[in-house]
Amino acid sequence: MKSNNVTVVGLQWGDEGKGKVVDAIADASKYVARYCGGANAGHTVKVGDEKFALHLIPCGILHENVMNIIGNGVAFDPDVAMLEMQALRKRGVKVGPENLSISNTAQVVMPWHKLQDLLSEKQLGSRKIGTTARGIGPCYSDKANRSTAIRVGELVDENALTLKIRLIGNIKNRMFSVLYDAEPMDLSAMVEQYVKLGRELAPMIQNTGAMLRKASTDGRRVLFEGGQGSMLDIDHGTYPFVTSSSVSACGVPAGAGVPPSSVGQVVGIMKAYTTRVGAGPFPTEQDNEIGETIRQAGNEFGTTTGRPRRCGWLDTMVVKYTADLSGVDELALMLLDVLTGLDEIKICTGYLYDGKKVEDFDPAILGKVQCVYETLPGWQEDITGCRNFEDLPVNAQNYVKRVSELIGRPVGIVSIGPDREQTISYQSNIEGLS
Ligand code: GDP
Ligand code: IMO
Ligand code: MG
Repeated sequence: MKSNNVTVVGLQWGDEGKGKVVDAIADASKYVARYCGGANAGHTVKVGDEKFALHLIPCGILHENVMNIIGNGVAFDPDVAMLEMQALRKRGVKVGPENLSISNTAQVVMPWHKLQDLLSEKQLGSRKIGTTARGIGPCYSDKANRSTAIRVGELVDENALTLKIRLIGNIKNRMFSVLYDAEPMDLSAMVEQYVKLGRELAPMIQNTGAMLRKASTDGRRVLFEGGQGSMLDIDHGTYPFVTSSSVSACGVPAGAGVPPSSVGQVVGIMKAYTTRVGAGPFPTEQDNEIGETIRQAGNEFGTTTGRPRRCGWLDTMVVKYTADLSGVDELALMLLDVLTGLDEIKICTGYLYDGKKVEDFDPAILGKVQCVYETLPGWQEDITGCRNFEDLPVNAQNYVKRVSELIGRPVGIVSIGPDREQTISYQSNIEGLS
C-alpha cells in the first residue's frame, strides 16, 4: 500500500502552479518539505487579496501547525532565506524554529556561487543557459567536488567556518581572476556576514532526514514540494538547458532522506499550455501572436527574475514522459482560464524525427523534432467563476477530457484562476484536493 504522503511535481519547465496546489494540500499535512533546487524557485500563493512569492521557504509556512522542512537536497542560500523570513514576518507570518527546520546537510550557496553564475553566463554570451543567477549550478558543482563545499551544519562552528571561508574564498578568488579577470571578493566581510547568519539560523538547523523518516513511520503526512519542472531535471531534462538537481519525484528520497516508499501519492502539476524561461529546446513554442496572447492572458513573467516566459501549446509528449518518470497518480491542470477566447486550441500529440514517428520520448532530440498537432475548438465564456466541472463550457470540458486521455491519467483538479477558491475538484483522491 502507498504511504499517505503526497509529492507535488512540475511536469513541464517550471512555474506550472505548484505553489497553489501545495497551499491547497498543506492544511491536511503535518510537514511540507522541499527536496531540490533553491532560491531559483518562485512559488506563488494567493491568500485573499494577498500574494506571496516564496523562493526557499516551503509554501506550508502560510499554514498553522505545519512544520516546514528545507531538505538536504536543497541549495540553501542563508542570505536569501533570512531576507525571505524577515519579509514574511513583516507581513504577519510566523517563521521560527517551531515551524521551519533546515537540514544540517543541505549545501550552502555562498556569494562566490552567485558571482560565478553571473560571470559564467556573461562569458558564454549567446550560448548561455539563461539561469536565474542564484548560484545554483556552481553550488551543486561544489557539492560534487566536496572539498570546496560548505554544508548548513558548518555555519554554526564559527572558527571552522572562518577557516573554510578563507581557504575556499582564496581558491575562488584565484580562479575567478584567471577565468573572468574578476576583482577579488572581500573575504573578511564575508566571514563576518556568514558567522552572523549562522548564529541567527542555528535554532532551525536540524537532522531533518530523521524527522521525516519518523513522521512517515508514525503515519503523519508529509507533503513533498517539488521545485522547477521535470524537463529541467539534471538527468532527465533537456540537458544542458536544465537546472542542477533531481526535481522529479525520483529526487524525493535522496533530497529529503526518506525511502522511495515515502514518496506516496504523486500529483503532477501542468499548465493547460506550455511555458519556459531561459534557453533550450521547446518544440511547441509559439514565438508569434498566439504566444503573446497567452503571455498577456497568463501574465507569464518570471516570479524570480521577472523575465518574460516563452509560451506555446500544450505538449502531451512532454507531459506523458514526465508523468511516467515520476509515477504520477493524478494531474492538476492549471491556468485553463488563460486559454479562454481562443477560437482554436492546439495540442501536440506526437513528434516526427527525420520524417518518422517518434515512439520513445527522448529529451536529447527535442531540438530536432517536428510536432504533430490536434486542433480542438476553443470557448469564449469567462470560466473563472466556475466551481463544478459541469459549469465549464462543453468545449473546455472536452479539452480537459482529451488531455487526460492523451496523458493516460485522471485530472484531479482543474484550476481556473490564481485564488484558492478558483479550483474545480474533478477526479481527485487526495485530501485537500478532493
Ligand atoms: P510555481 O513555480 O509552479 O509555483 O508557479 P509560479 O508561482 O511561478 O507561476 C504560476 C502563476 O500562475 C502564479 O502567478 C499563480 O498565482 C498563477 N496561477 C496559478 N493557478 C492559476 C490559474 O489557474 N489561473 C491563472 N490565471 N493563474 C494561476
Ligand atoms: P519554479 O520552482 C522556471 C530555469 C532557469 C534556467 C534553468 C537553469 O518556480 O518552477 P538555474 O538558475 O536553476 O541554474 O537555471 O532553469 N529554472 C526555472 N524555470 N521555474 C523555476 O522554478 C525554475 N528554476 C530554474 O530559467 O532556464
Ligand atoms: Mg515559479
